[in-house]
Amino acid sequence: MADELTPAVAMPAEDALLLLNKGEITVEGRVTTASNATLYCRAELDGIAAACVYKPVSGERPLWDYPDGTLAEREYATYLTSEATGWNLVPPTVLRDGPLGTGMVQLWVEEDESCDILEVINSGESVHLQRMALLDAVVNNSDRKVSHLLAISDPAGGRHIFGVDHGVSFGVEGKLRTVLWQWAGVRFEPELVDVLGRLEAQLAEGLGAALSELLTTREIRAARRRVRQLIATGLFPLPPTDWPAIPYPPY
Ligand SMILES: Nc1ncnc2c1ncn2[C@@H]1O[C@H](COP(=O)(O)OP(=O)(O)O)[C@@H](O)[C@H]1O
Ligand SMILES: [Mg+2]
Repeated sequence: MADELTPAVAMPAEDALLLLNKGEITVEGRVTTASNATLYCRAELDGIAAACVYKPVSGERPLWDYPDGTLAEREYATYLTSEATGWNLVPPTVLRDGPLGTGMVQLWVEEDESCDILEVINSGESVHLQRMALLDAVVNNSDRKVSHLLAISDPAGGRHIFGVDHGVSFGVEGKLRTVLWQWAGVRFEPELVDVLGRLEAQLAEGLGAALSELLTTREIRAARRRVRQLIATGLFPLPPTDWPAIPYPPY
């Protein structure tokens, strides 16, 4: 990023949510690789500023397989689901009004350029990616590309991986498309089983209530069904045979 742009700032999730919800949003640029109006912005509140991504609903490109004007809500629904896992897989995200109308606003995370994410994917050894693969199965993510996985240096040491761009998720039909098939057919570790159980309970309670503001009843029912099926099989899903299993382009 050029020097004049507001830099990415790492901050506690609670502070980030306040900044994203209440801060003043200023558009600084457009993410040129993006297919929708994906804007690089500054969010500022009480003298504190951080970079964020803002995707106004008005800039969403219509898709044949998802209702118009719902991608921002699907992104937010995926963030809420990630929060329910406790795994912090999606950067802090809100839905709010912005300079171009309602949209999703997400904290911009600073990618660790020294990390070759393809290498991490191919190693099949990242706990973050394994958890991401489970989140994707739960939300029925149709677009888990390599460029939607961002490695960051964890201030606590080591590396964390965030997932972004969850606009095409939560469809009713099985549409999982991902570059994370390394664990296909692999049995869930106890930690993953626990989280699935928690998700099942939360979908019947607070998470389900929050999602009902964002998704249709059928879509929430389908999400609950997917979680029940994952619990019943105890295995990471296999690639579909009637639907492309990998996003195009994969990067
Ligand atoms: N929260 C974020 N933090 C850092 N980089 C991001 C973030 N969200 C998106 N990006 C970067 O911008 C690119 C395009 O964003 P994406 O969400 O994929 O937009 P689109 O919906 O238009 O495809 C991503 O591949 C990623 O490199
Ligand atoms: Mg994208």
